[in-house]
Amino acid sequence: MPQEKSNISDSVILHKDKSGRIHITLENVTLRQPQDGTTLVDSFNIALQKGDHFILTGPSGSGKSQLIRAIRGLIDQGSGSITIPEEVSILCLSQKVDLPRTSLKDILSDGKEFSEEEIDQALQDVKHDKLRQHLPINQTRSDHICALAEKYIARAIQHWENKILVCGQNDTNLLATEIKSYIQNNLQNFFPETLAVHFTEKTKKEISTRIESAFKNEIVNQRKLAYGTTSNSSRFSTAPQKLATQISKYILQGVAMDLEDAQIDGSTLSRQLSGGEQQRLMFAKILLQKPDILIMDESTSALDRTSGKALYEQIIKALPDTIIWSVAHDTNLIECHNIHGDLDGDSKKISVQKLPGLTLFS
Ligand SMILES: Nc1ncnc2c1ncn2[C@@H]1O[C@H](COP(=O)(O)OP(=O)(O)O)[C@@H](O)[C@H]1O
Ligand SMILES: [Mg+2]
Repeated sequence: MPQEKSNISDSVILHKDKSGRIHITLENVTLRQPQDGTTLVDSFNIALQKGDHFILTGPSGSGKSQLIRAIRGLIDQGSGSITIPEEVSILCLSQKVDLPRTSLKDILSDGKEFSEEEIDQALQDVKHDKLRQHLPINQTRSDHICALAEKYIARAIQHWENKILVCGQNDTNLLATEIKSYIQNNLQNFFPETLAVHFTEKTKKEISTRIESAFKNEIVNQRKLAYGTTSNSSRFSTAPQKLATQISKYILQGVAMDLEDAQIDGSTLSRQLSGGEQQRLMFAKILLQKPDILIMDESTSALDRTSGKALYEQIIKALPDTIIWSVAHDTNLIECHNIHGDLDGDSKKISVQKLPGLTLFS
């Protein structure tokens, strides 16, 4: 069907409503192609209230994303009016996630204040365990540090083999006790300030105790291998305190180095995470930001259908009052919405249908 050319210079008017009511209202919105003026959407009317979940489907290239751009005030070729509240938090996610080159915390916080625990919880809620380990709170947890330390304990014992393996059980205990106290007192000095502030007295104590016992076990294992016995009466060839300091430094420096290597920012994230994982990360951002209006333009397109739907269910449950405006090809997602609009590629009309919406049992 031939499209009429635009010979009028009118535009879509974007009103900012001061009433404080959360809504999106489109009145007779007609959108035209910026380049050739052909009509993309013809006279669309809709009024979405707090808690409405609207999904727009339609052929690709038909104007679904352009309609979102019009709501955001980025394009205005056409006619009619769009009204959104003046003071409103809007989060808009698109199919292609563009991660800024900042830290994981900054990506998710977007300038707001969130504790490590809140960020950790959001990543846990969207099942992004892979990223949870990059948060300072997790990097300073005993399990994480001790797992990294194990490798350096084994290496340290090999490195100081001639000094350690000749000591007897009492000497081993003495050495291990010295290591414990050195690590407890100096743990923070080996880590950057940003991580060091997260160590509590309790974790420091636990880490040093666990490294002490891991050290003893490893010596026993290695001496069994070397001598078939754990008893040997030979003495240290170096003062135990000095040896313990050397070994402790070696372990802590190794752990600090491993943690530094693991630090990631947005540019690394874009390379290390699949498209689906980046989209999953954006759902953690939604849970933290709790926007009044959430616009998702094919923002689960790189995820499998089950995961995409589970994430939708998660945010609908967490943010019952948020207005959601979705564009999706996955028909599986329609049932997460209470209003369905279908853009007809020929007539350019959007037919709107009310749906029961998602019933959540919890
Ligand atoms: N920035 C732009 N400038 C000119 N035309 C554009 C621009 N963005 C999209 N278009 C065109 O507008 C039409 C609708 O695009 P879009 O809304 O992105 O489709 P979809 O329904 O797949 O989201 C397409 O023909 C597209 O080529
Ligand atoms: Mg699009």
